[in-house]
Amino acid sequence: MAKAYYAILFLCSMVIAMPIVHGIDESPQAVAKWFENLPKMKEKLTKFHFYFHDQVSGKNPTSVTVVKANATSQLPNFFGLVEVIDNVLTVGPEANSTTVGRAQGMYVADGLLIGAAEMSFSFVFTSGRYNGSTLSLLGRNEVLKTYREMPIVGGSGVFRLARGIATARTYSFNLTTGDAIVEYNVVVLHY
Ligand SMILES: *[C@@H]1O[C@H](CO)[C@@H](O)[C@H](O)[C@H]1NC(C)=O
Ligand SMILES: *[C@@H]1O[C@H](CO)[C@@H](O)[C@H](O)[C@H]1NC(C)=O
Ligand SMILES: *[C@@H]1O[C@H](CO)[C@@H](O)[C@H](O)[C@H]1NC(C)=O
Ligand SMILES: *[C@@H]1O[C@H](CO)[C@@H](O)[C@H](O)[C@H]1NC(C)=O
Repeated sequence: MAKAYYAILFLCSMVIAMPIVHGIDESPQAVAKWFENLPKMKEKLTKFHFYFHDQVSGKNPTSVTVVKANATSQLPNFFGLVEVIDNVLTVGPEANSTTVGRAQGMYVADGLLIGAAEMSFSFVFTSGRYNGSTLSLLGRNEVLKTYREMPIVGGSGVFRLARGIATARTYSFNLTTGDAIVEYNVVVLHY
């Protein structure tokens, strides 16, 4: 199964042998050249604001539980649960608001004493001049805190060598369905 999957990915990458993503040459030669030019480049600051839709219920969930320990139901804070996400990022909090990207990755409920999750995902931009570029988020999300600060540890495309901070704030949480809408403010330094 996994082998076939990678074979398909490989074949697709052979057919679509087009390394240029929205004006950014992603070939290894271009990446090497980009690094050689680094001393001449200036760092810039970019800010984002969007809403993250953690949709666990309904016919088309974008957030699914893939692992849960037997003990999870007896332990506090869903400890031991692993969730895989491909959540939509929108301009406004409404479900029909314009999509700007996806949050693809996972989170792990890892707070025995305080509700917390380790978040590990990429913001994958799908519109505008950042289309095709990504930012990598990795950090602790203490879910009941008003503001949760999490590191942006890198990026690709426009965001090569990015670093910054994402601040999450729960906009709404439906206790019945478990669906959450989370407001994200992201500030990154990149070249
Ligand atoms: C988990 O629970 C199921 C059903 O109660 C049981 O059959 C299984 O042996 C348990 N697994 C472990 C690792 O305890
Ligand atoms: C989005 O949904 C709201 C109701 O939730 C509706 O009032 C609005 O017209 C919709 N907007 C678009 C662009 O479909
Ligand atoms: C973003 O890039 C993809 C892949 O190149 C392309 O198919 C899509 O039309 C682009 N979307 C926008 C909104 O530019
Ligand atoms: C939670 O979701 C249910 C099912 O979609 C809906 O009926 C209910 O109004 C929602 N509650 C809130 C507070 O939004």
